[in-house]
Amino acid sequence: MAVDHIAVLDFGSQFAHLICRRIRSLSVYAELVPHDADPEELDGVKGIVLSGGPSSVYEDGSPRPHKGVFSMGVPVLGICYGHQLVIDRFGGQVRRANREYGSAELSVDGPADLLGGIGGSVRAWMSHGDEAERVPDGFEVIAHTADSAAAAIADEERRVYGIQFHPEVVHTERGTEILGNFALRICGARPDWKMDSFIEDQVGRLSGIEGGILCGLSGGVDSAVAAALLHRAVGEDLRCVFVDNGLLREGERAEAESLFESMGLPGVEIIDASARFLARLRGITDPEEKRRAVGDEFVRVFSEAAQSGRKCRWLAQGTLYPDVIESGSTRGPSAVIKSHHNVGGLPAKLDMGLVEPLRDLYKDEVRRVGALLGLPERVVSRHPFPGPGLSVRVIGEATPEKLAVARRASRIVEDELAAAGLYGSVWQAYAGVGEDRAVGVVGDARIHGRIVIVRIVESVDAMTADWSRIPHDVLERLSNRITNEVDGVAMVTYAISSKPPATIELE
Ligand code: XMP
Repeated sequence: MAVDHIAVLDFGSQFAHLICRRIRSLSVYAELVPHDADPEELDGVKGIVLSGGPSSVYEDGSPRPHKGVFSMGVPVLGICYGHQLVIDRFGGQVRRANREYGSAELSVDGPADLLGGIGGSVRAWMSHGDEAERVPDGFEVIAHTADSAAAAIADEERRVYGIQFHPEVVHTERGTEILGNFALRICGARPDWKMDSFIEDQVGRLSGIEGGILCGLSGGVDSAVAAALLHRAVGEDLRCVFVDNGLLREGERAEAESLFESMGLPGVEIIDASARFLARLRGITDPEEKRRAVGDEFVRVFSEAAQSGRKCRWLAQGTLYPDVIESGSTRGPSAVIKSHHNVGGLPAKLDMGLVEPLRDLYKDEVRRVGALLGLPERVVSRHPFPGPGLSVRVIGEATPEKLAVARRASRIVEDELAAAGLYGSVWQAYAGVGEDRAVGVVGDARIHGRIVIVRIVESVDAMTADWSRIPHDVLERLSNRITNEVDGVAMVTYAISSKPPATIELE
């Protein structure tokens, strides 16, 4: 990466990725890297942030940064567990304390660069069970709260800082400014991480790839943006395939074909693999097994395609940063939430090289790249659709009957939202179906039909989400239409769980 960047060492906090997002919002590139990354891997960074995490520094086996990290000559900022690592590393003492969780009044004591311009006091978000008992020599306390005497510390000479609170969460007032003080003022990173520089940089890098690239297109924004970038970079060396896996949305294949034409992509090959995907999914009820099955089948189809016709040594995917994080692929101590089909679903040994030009981006960043590349608005603003498709929107076995209910009902949900002018203001909207049945009455007859689960959520980056407060008349209309128009449905429910604890998809 030619632009200046900050590395965030991932010690497992659920907020770690937010540190990257906040720093990137200041036009400085930031990347989450494994907590034990060594100085060679970190070569060239302008600064290092140690994230929070669930461990305690005084426990045996608690995760530590590589010992060379503090002698690289670049500024270091520890956050929460990272703060305690700084204290421990420089000879201070950390002890178990009363758990401090939620918002606290942070009083700024010192004029250190890190809190420059903050002044007085601000609300800061706390989430910790350990605290500093003794601040190491050479460090000065620059802020405190009622419960944390050393809520922020600084060693201006060595340019090492620690803060007990979380500047990356929205509940911390002026948190982004504090991260900006670190990245811009202390590390001196230039704010030149812009989407057009990203495009230039990626096209430059990708143009060096030889041996043919096979790009799987889904009709969604991620693979379309990946293909557009690759097309710019390697031109005719790009071979695009669209796999109909039988798990697509209604009308998706036709829409995708017209999109590819409007993008000017060369002769997209359509592979109808629906029968083999559905056969592969038969009898599988475990969600992770379903995801692996779909991922595995995709790879088989792509490998076969790469061997027939024009040979390709590379497989391109529209993998995004949250896919990588949620699949637990950052080598950090965080948990695997879901194996995204294109990350955790890949076989250990793939006989093609992987090209993932969007792997470092969040969805909103990909949308900005898509718009800059001139992709049609309807693609750029299209709701995300998971790689395993409708198979993760039906609970249990993905049977053709359940898939048909989810497909038809989802179309109704999307259409009704669009008619109400709400499609663009929500993150995702679909109808799923479970194993349960309910008794209904249609005409004068009793049915024992499916229960459809409507899920409409708002989100910024899919890492957290809230259910959307859709007007009741819209919910009523789509519910009536689903029971009237979709065969075998007895009841419609609306899912009102946020993420966490639920997730956006059903499985
Ligand atoms: P969850 O269900 O984990 O979804 O809250 C978060 C976001 O990711 C999408 N999603 C996927 N996207 N491959 C993808 O490309 C996958 O395997 C996958 N699983 C979930 C989901 O639609 C939501 O936007």
